[in-house]
Amino acid sequence: MDLTSEEKDMLDGKYGKATQKSMEILATLGDIYEAKRMIDVESVQISGVSYANLNEAGLDFLSEMAIDGKTRVLTTLNPAGMDRDNWQALGIEESFAINQNRVIDAFAKMEVITTCTCTPYLIGNLPHYGQHVAWAESSAVCFCNSVIGALTNREGGPSALASALTGKTPEYGYHLEENRHGEALFEIKAKINGTDQFGVLGKIIGDKLGELKKKIPYITGIPSATVEELKSFCASVATYGGTALFHMEGITPESLKYPKPTDPKIEINEKNIEKTRAELIDEDIEVDFVSIGCPHASIAEIAKVAKLLEGKKVTKEFWITTGRPTKKIADEAGYTKIIEEAGAKFAADTCCVVAPIKGRFKGIVVDSAKACYYGRAKNKFKVKIASIEDCVKEAII
Ligand code: F3S
Repeated sequence: MDLTSEEKDMLDGKYGKATQKSMEILATLGDIYEAKRMIDVESVQISGVSYANLNEAGLDFLSEMAIDGKTRVLTTLNPAGMDRDNWQALGIEESFAINQNRVIDAFAKMEVITTCTCTPYLIGNLPHYGQHVAWAESSAVCFCNSVIGALTNREGGPSALASALTGKTPEYGYHLEENRHGEALFEIKAKINGTDQFGVLGKIIGDKLGELKKKIPYITGIPSATVEELKSFCASVATYGGTALFHMEGITPESLKYPKPTDPKIEINEKNIEKTRAELIDEDIEVDFVSIGCPHASIAEIAKVAKLLEGKKVTKEFWITTGRPTKKIADEAGYTKIIEEAGAKFAADTCCVVAPIKGRFKGIVVDSAKACYYGRAKNKFKVKIASIEDCVKEAII
């Protein structure tokens, strides 16, 4: 691939070892995907932050990069394995907390903003339409490409870090317009409301895309959707279908830019929704854990939970997972006080999937189809999907 003189200098080590290593990673990726050149990125979002996933080998890599690596663009982190302030209250072991902090410290040394969230677009890492970025978290990548109309591939942890330290990414995949066309038409003939139902829809479309071996759905028949519903849909369709981009007629910005595909055409009706919703409710579930905020809760969702919990007491472990800046707004608005007086807990910086809680609970109720998938697969919980209102009801009975 063609490199500019600055990029060649990076590769030759003139900007230090971490930048050299980063450019090696990006150039190798570029060669594999036959990119013609590097492009500048406006921001980066790095995944692979939980010590539970990184272990010592991952931490060694980060520590080596942190010797002389510094970010060149705005860079934020995906959720870590614990709330950095409140880990004891969430039952996290001290040995894990020490190691998790070593990971965060390595990122901080590289001048990464250590806000750990999967909804960076809610806390200021917000590109605009048409900008190129290098993001890693699957739900955020889907939101970025589809809802915002910025352009990113789904990066891995090392390639996202490499982009942060160079400000570059190879131009291939979703950075090229020719790869952003819808590939299958989904006509929705059902009423879809709420984060849970949008998650169910994401599972139906994701599963179908897997069967069809297609990646980019073009969806019609959704009259409106909130940011929260779209973030839930993104998380689900990315989990079940590996989808990094969708078009939704009248809602997402590129839906008018590309032609609507005609074949294959799939209709989704109320029966499909009911059937798939039932697949996300395990039989004989004994609920001892409720969690809201997958992807990380917005301030509007926290306000809703506070209203539902006001004057009540929870009887089960109940986490609201969110980014720390959003939690700070909740503190100032008085929502935190209401929620904590009810006995629920904030879990900022982390979530019910990345925290090391495998086997700690029997059954989890969530409003997220993604959390259902990982609740079963990773944490070995029985799962139940429910609306936010019903999640709160489950927590207080
Ligand atoms: Fe975010 Fe954790 Fe869900 S990283 S998308 S809250 S699984």
